[in-house]
Amino acid sequence: MHERTTSSQSIDYIRDLFAPEDATLKHVIRTIEENDLRTIQIGPDEGKMLEFIIKLANVKTVVELGTLAGYSTLWMARAIPEGGHVYTVEHSPEVATIAQENFDKAGVNNKITLLHGDADKMLPELEGNAPFDMIFIDADKVGYYDYLLWAEKNIKKGGIIVGDNTFLFGAVYQDLDKVENVSKQAQDAMRKFNRRLADPTLYNSIMIPTAEGLTVAQKLF
Ligand code: DHB
Ligand code: MG
Repeated sequence: MHERTTSSQSIDYIRDLFAPEDATLKHVIRTIEENDLRTIQIGPDEGKMLEFIIKLANVKTVVELGTLAGYSTLWMARAIPEGGHVYTVEHSPEVATIAQENFDKAGVNNKITLLHGDADKMLPELEGNAPFDMIFIDADKVGYYDYLLWAEKNIKKGGIIVGDNTFLFGAVYQDLDKVENVSKQAQDAMRKFNRRLADPTLYNSIMIPTAEGLTVAQKLF
């Protein structure tokens, strides 16, 4: 099962034709289910969007915030050329163990470094490898605006910032009583996140209306 809040034949069509999953990706999904993790990873259609962006923009180095079992990490690691690298940060040690096993099995370990720990600790460590070509933000939603400010500092001019779940389950465009389990802090953070990325003096940007919302922005400065 993939994350999806709306059922749609058109998404199935896209997934079948443009983003079929091989045995490795299917195995990653199984590890999520077998370990009773929430099935909140991106869908294959979104994995293919990340791959497309990476190839189009010639991305070689990626930071991912929020690894989960490594499904999106694998899409990105496969998309970058040899010599490229994905640094992925996961705060939960249990989840990071599952992800590491998945990377070991997938045969792209040379392209992936998994860091487990809180963003507060791990992001300063990553700065030694900056500037990056792309940063994919898919972690705790309250942190999105802080992660954006970090990304902005640590990405090259022309680099790409992508955020998942940027509709925040409907909370960016509705009052909180209309959505479930979204805090005021998360709502404020995501609204600021999208508002900053929508500023055409700072970013060349779009928001792709996936079920969850995917904001994609190229830094202009
Ligand atoms: C949640 C987080 C995600 O990154 C996602 O894609 C879907 C749901 C969540 O925390 O509920
Ligand atoms: Mg997500």
